[in-house]
Amino acid sequence: MSPRSALVLAGGLGTRLRPLTEQRPKQMLPIVDRPMIEHVVAKLAAEGVDDVVLSLGYRPDAFGLAYPSGRCGGAGMRYATEPEPLGTAGALLFAARRAAADNGMAVGGDPFSETFWALNGDVLTDAPLSELLALHRARDAEATILTIPMADASRYGLVESDDSGRVSQFVEKPATGGAVSGWINAGVYVLEPSVLARIPPGRPVSMERETFAAVAADGALYALRSDAYWIDAGTPASYLQANIDLISGRREITLDALSPRAVVSPAADVVGSVVMERAVVEAGACLRGSVVLPGGRIGAGAVVDDSVVGYDAVVGPGARLGGFTLLGDGETVAAGESLRGGCR
Ligand code: GDD
Ligand code: MG
Repeated sequence: MSPRSALVLAGGLGTRLRPLTEQRPKQMLPIVDRPMIEHVVAKLAAEGVDDVVLSLGYRPDAFGLAYPSGRCGGAGMRYATEPEPLGTAGALLFAARRAAADNGMAVGGDPFSETFWALNGDVLTDAPLSELLALHRARDAEATILTIPMADASRYGLVESDDSGRVSQFVEKPATGGAVSGWINAGVYVLEPSVLARIPPGRPVSMERETFAAVAADGALYALRSDAYWIDAGTPASYLQANIDLISGRREITLDALSPRAVVSPAADVVGSVVMERAVVEAGACLRGSVVLPGGRIGAGAVVDDSVVGYDAVVGPGARLGGFTLLGDGETVAAGESLRGGCR
């Protein structure tokens, strides 16, 4: 049977996406037509998950406000908010215990007393979760990790496994000086409850640096190799890419680039870009590989390349943005001004 419950990590500070994450957690930033977290939960719901426990820390209220009914992406969603950051494993343990306590004596009891999913909340993928689960069952594994090939693994966890899938080594953020290529941890796991029992309570614990190393040392950590679509939407370039991939036919589903509630002049040139609700793009403006968040405004003749224009931000007439600029909520770029890289 496929697991019904999942823990999803969504408590990070989203530092790399500031200033867009100053007002909201990274997982509440929209990807094309809905918040990132909805894409993540929908993937789980499609696999039969109906109970998602979100592990929160930074700006937790944003989720309850957005999903007051407790449903998101086709699954029930509840929250476990840490009093202080507990690291990826500490957060999973805290959330699992909180969910079990919530359930109390209810029928079904502790949802994490059997096999469950655990995910990083910033990962979008078309990888077949059923294959991950099948490998986990076939090997009688304690934990099974989805892995993806990557030319430069330095900002990920590098996973070495043999032909059977057994993991011999897990190196988080390998610092080799040069680029090292290999199979990286995709942040999508099938876990047995015994993994939670390995996590010492009450202090920050890293899944990647501590817990997986211990499971691997016992020969019980496995990895599925997949070359399906996968992205971690947590950096300016990857957040942009995650949006663009969903409008360009690279994903299993393709969404409309322009919100029906955006106003885009027919005399604007919009290429490979997403324009969200309430946004306005005036005549002669040019958008390439960019995202305009709700209420953003691109003035006549402005040129925006590879950049994100924040909620209700304004790019003045004839201004130029490029090089992965992030323009924060309500910020203004004056007419004719140029910004290249960085953020405001
Ligand atoms: N609740 C909680 N508490 N959540 C946290 C905490 C914490 O202390 N720290 C991080 N998170 C959440 C983030 O919100 C994110 O959804 C997820 O955990 C992963 O954190 P990131 O900060 O995005 O990690 P990363 O991208 O540098 O690296 C991780 O993901 C890579 C794949 O995307 C690692 O798991 C790597 O091994 C992996 O390759
Ligand atoms: Mg990440």
